[in-house]
Amino acid sequence: IIEPLKGEIDKIKNIQEFQVLKSKYVGKKGEISKLMKEIGKIEPEKRKEFGAFVNNLKKEAEAILEEGLEKVKQHLKEMEEKKSWVDITLPGAKRKIGYEHILKQTIRDVYEIFSSMGYKIVEGPEIETTWHNFDALNTPEWHPARDMQDTFYIEGKDNIILRTHTSPVQVRTMLNTEPPLAIISPGRVYRKDEPDATHSPAFNQFEGLYIDKNVTVGHLKATLEQFLTMYFGGSRKVLLRPSYFPFVEPGYEVDVDCMFCGGKGCNVCKGTGWIEILGAGLVHPNVLKNVGYDPEKWQGFAFGTGIERIAMLKYGISDMREFYRNDMRFLGL
Ligand code: PHE
Repeated sequence: IIEPLKGEIDKIKNIQEFQVLKSKYVGKKGEISKLMKEIGKIEPEKRKEFGAFVNNLKKEAEAILEEGLEKVKQHLKEMEEKKSWVDITLPGAKRKIGYEHILKQTIRDVYEIFSSMGYKIVEGPEIETTWHNFDALNTPEWHPARDMQDTFYIEGKDNIILRTHTSPVQVRTMLNTEPPLAIISPGRVYRKDEPDATHSPAFNQFEGLYIDKNVTVGHLKATLEQFLTMYFGGSRKVLLRPSYFPFVEPGYEVDVDCMFCGGKGCNVCKGTGWIEILGAGLVHPNVLKNVGYDPEKWQGFAFGTGIERIAMLKYGISDMREFYRNDMRFLGL
């Protein structure tokens, strides 16, 4: 009995096999129990000796089984450890760290700069009424921007559109806020433009609006100079060129000196001269009237620009479509 047990115990690999082996030898119907049952049949004078023999046999078998069980447990533990073993001398797997998309970073930069000047951030809906997007902004029916060719209309509606600029946020804010006020509103706008290096049917703008008493073009110019200096670095100059936007009077196209172009963004103006960067002007008295402000009492300035545009200039991106291609390098991966 002991010899075959020794042979079999070395072969078992898990607890289930051990249980089978255990009952085969020392179980109720096992080999040793069978011998115990023989005790009665043995001649009385030999019974004691035989009984002692069987008992010893049982003890021995149990000891072997006990030892076998320990070995199996040890083996299983080693297997487990091998599985979870870590070689701490291997170089670690490098996790790539992404960073904010450049458009998000740019919006954040704009927030931070204008927050430091006391402006509040306000957002408005991308689906607008033609009243908020055009009429309230002194943009009459005949204006080309209102044409179906240029503006996305919501199907079946002639007065609901995708906003073409962030200027309707000015209107919404003035309607529910008493002056004075200073706001910045970033967001997505839509125009029927074929995508190319500088156009996209959906892009981002931000709008600035400042309303107070005795506001002049001087305030506007100083504010934009401050913004552009903080955004591009160095000490920026602005050039106001008279231009036309229905909602401002006077209106300007605003250029910044190209000297910021020493760094990455130099592919547009080559470091000299001026480059157009914003639209701006003093809020038209009709706009103030449309939102219930008294133009005799309150004046203001407004400005707007493309977030892609200012990011392209700062980072030297020559094709606007790069922003939307999901190139992983854009996310620092
Ligand atoms: N809304 C104008 C545009 O989209 C920009 C602008 C804003 C111009 C405010 C003047 C004042 O082109």
